[in-house]
Amino acid sequence: MCPKSTSTQKSLDFKKNMKIKIAVGVALFIFWAVVVAILVSAMVTHQNNQNKNLLGSSNNSVVAPIVVAPGQEIVLSSAEVAKHNTAQDCWMIISNKVYNFTSFLTVHPGGAYTMTPYCGKDGSQGYQTKDLSRPTNHSSTAYSMLAAYYLGDLNQKITGTQLNQNVQNAQQAPALFGGGDREND
Ligand code: HEM
Repeated sequence: MCPKSTSTQKSLDFKKNMKIKIAVGVALFIFWAVVVAILVSAMVTHQNNQNKNLLGSSNNSVVAPIVVAPGQEIVLSSAEVAKHNTAQDCWMIISNKVYNFTSFLTVHPGGAYTMTPYCGKDGSQGYQTKDLSRPTNHSSTAYSMLAAYYLGDLNQKITGTQLNQNVQNAQQAPALFGGGDREND
């Protein structure tokens, strides 16, 4: 056999082998990329489901029950606030004003768990100290967010129509925070 044709044959075989190796390498890379993508998306979905379960809702706009008939009037007393003491229906008193933070819990930068103990209660002190060992007030950004969740003044008499409207507004309040400026720290 001609030595030249043998070496040509070897070189062709070598190229063929290289092509196969590259193809296998690319296929393996794609395979693992797909596996990792599936795992990551499964983990994200799992985490989201856990957060939903924690708060018993499928999104941030928790639909609160209609509080009072439109024609009726009620007083926003601390006893009234106390009826809304769960993460699914969370009213709170801060500095003699009543708020509905139900939709805010899931987006609170300090976590829902720091706020839920105050659902149905006066959270003024918790709000002003963040319940930290070194008491730290909320920033002016946080203070400016309160208005979106306002229902009325403590012990204010309010009509069902107005209250239901305020509850609705609070439920739909956008997640307004964009990082505190710590002015009040
Ligand atoms: C009432 C009980 C509350 C407690 C115990 C509490 C606690 C906390 C904690 C521990 C942090 C994280 C630590 C830090 O950033 O310094 C935080 C951050 C924050 N919280 Fe609260 N929070 C409460 C209510 C609220 C409310 C009602 C709002 C607004 C409507 C709010 C808005 C924020 C904001 C915007 C931040 C980011 C840091 C800042 O701007 O001060 N929190 N909170």
